[in-house]
Amino acid sequence: MTLRLTVIGTGYLGATHAACMAELGFEVLGVDVDKEKIDSLSRGELPIHEPGLPELLRKHTESGRLRFTTSFDEAGAFGDVHFIAVGTPQRAGEHAADMTYVDASVAAIARAATKDSLIVGKSTVPVGSARRLKGLVAEESRDGVTVNFAWNPEFLREGFAVADTLRPDRLVMGSDSAAAEATLREVYADAISRDTPFISTDFETAELVKVAANAFLATKISFINAFSEVTETVGGNIRTLADAIGLDARIGRRFLNAGIGFGGGCLPKDIRALQARVSELGLDSTMRFLNEVDEVNLRRRDRAVYVAETLLGSLEGKKVAVLGVAFKPNSDDVRDSPALDVAARLYSSGADVSVYDPAANANASKRYPRLNYVDALATAVADADLVMLLTEWSEFVNIDPAELSGVVSHKQIVDGRNVLNHDKWTAAGWDIISLGHKS
Ligand code: UGA
Repeated sequence: MTLRLTVIGTGYLGATHAACMAELGFEVLGVDVDKEKIDSLSRGELPIHEPGLPELLRKHTESGRLRFTTSFDEAGAFGDVHFIAVGTPQRAGEHAADMTYVDASVAAIARAATKDSLIVGKSTVPVGSARRLKGLVAEESRDGVTVNFAWNPEFLREGFAVADTLRPDRLVMGSDSAAAEATLREVYADAISRDTPFISTDFETAELVKVAANAFLATKISFINAFSEVTETVGGNIRTLADAIGLDARIGRRFLNAGIGFGGGCLPKDIRALQARVSELGLDSTMRFLNEVDEVNLRRRDRAVYVAETLLGSLEGKKVAVLGVAFKPNSDDVRDSPALDVAARLYSSGADVSVYDPAANANASKRYPRLNYVDALATAVADADLVMLLTEWSEFVNIDPAELSGVVSHKQIVDGRNVLNHDKWTAAGWDIISLGHKS
C-alpha cells in the first residue's frame, strides 16, 4: 500500500514539500495551526511567489490527493510518515534558533499518532535537537503505537523549490533505525531510482550537514565581498577575479557574485544560530570566523548607501529609484533582504525612494510602508537622480539603457549586484558604478 504522508507546517518548505510529494503520487495531508493559511491552501491558493508551485498545488487540491487541515488528530490517524517543516526563527534579541514550534509540533503529532509511523524532521535545527526530540517522541507516543524518528534536512532554494524537491542533488538522513531508513527510501524511491545519492548517517551529522552547507555558502559570498573591498580601494575587476578563481574546479564559480550581500530567511539566521550553538557546547572560538562573514556581509549594505551619498552629495530630497527589494530574484521574500534594508536607509537619510520589484512590493510595503512603491519600472525611474539595481531580476539585467535615458533626471546607476554590462551603459551616456569596483 502506498504510504500516506503528512507535512506539518505549511510555510515555504512545507507547502513545497506537500505539493511535490503529491506530485510523486502520495496522498498528502498538510497541517498547520494557522486556519487562514489552511483555508487558502485548501482552495488551491498559495500565499507565496514560487515558480511552478501554484500549478502543482491547484492540480493536487483538485484531484483530492493533497488536502489540508488544522487537526493533529486527523493527521495522527492518517499518516504513515509525518514530516516536520515548521520554522526555527532567530530568537528575539538573540542569535540562537527558536525551537518552540518544532518541539510543539513533534510532541503534538507523537501524541496524536494512532498507528505505527515515522516522524521526520526537516527544519534547520541546532545540532543535538534530533536526539532530544527522539526522546520526546518516545515519551509522548501512545502505548502500543511505535513511532520512529529520523532527521532529513532540506536543501531547497527559493525560486527553484519545486525542481530542488523533485530532483534533489542529494538526500541526507540521520537515524538509528533500519526501519526508518527503509521507509524514507520508499518515500524518495523516485529520486533514488535516478541515482540521487542517499546518505544515511547519524542524527548529529544529518543536522550538521545542513548548517555546514549554508555556512559554507555564506562564507563564499563574504569571501568575494571581502575582496571587493580591496578592489574598491585599489582598482581591479571583481567579476573577472571571481571568474578566474572560479575556473579552478576546487573553488567553483557559483556563489562568488559580489554585491550587496546575502539575505533571506536562511543564510543570515543559520550562521548566527550555528555560532550560538557551538558556544553553548563550550566551543566559543570555533565558529568565530562566521562573525566576520556576517560583518563583511552587513558592511556591503553600508557601502551601497555610501556610494549613493557620494554620488548625490546629500540624499536629502533626491529621488532614488530602487530596482528590486526581494532578497534575491524570482522570489517575493523580503526577510533580511539587503536590498530592502538599503532602500529603507536611503529613505532615512532623506531620499525620496521609489521602489519597483516584480513580486516583492506587497511584502516590502508591510515592512516599510513609507517607501513609494510603484508597479512599473518606468514609473520608478521617472525623474530619478539615481537608479540603484539591488536585486538582479532578469527584467533589470536586460534593461536597454537608451530607453531609460530620456526618462531620468540624471543618467547614473549603481549596480548593486554586478550584473550590468558596463560598456553598454557607458556607450549610452550613463555613469555606472558597480559595487566591488573603484568609483
Ligand atoms: C539557501 C541555500 O542556498 C539552500 O540550499 C538552503 O536549502 C536554503 O538556504 C535553506 O536553508 O532553506 P535561499 O535562502 O533560497 O537558499 O537563497 P540562496 O540562493 O542561497 O541566496 C541567499 C542570498 O545570497 C541571496 O540574498 C542572494 O542574493 C545572495 N547571493 C547568492 C549573493 O549575494 N551572491 C551569490 O553569489 C549568491
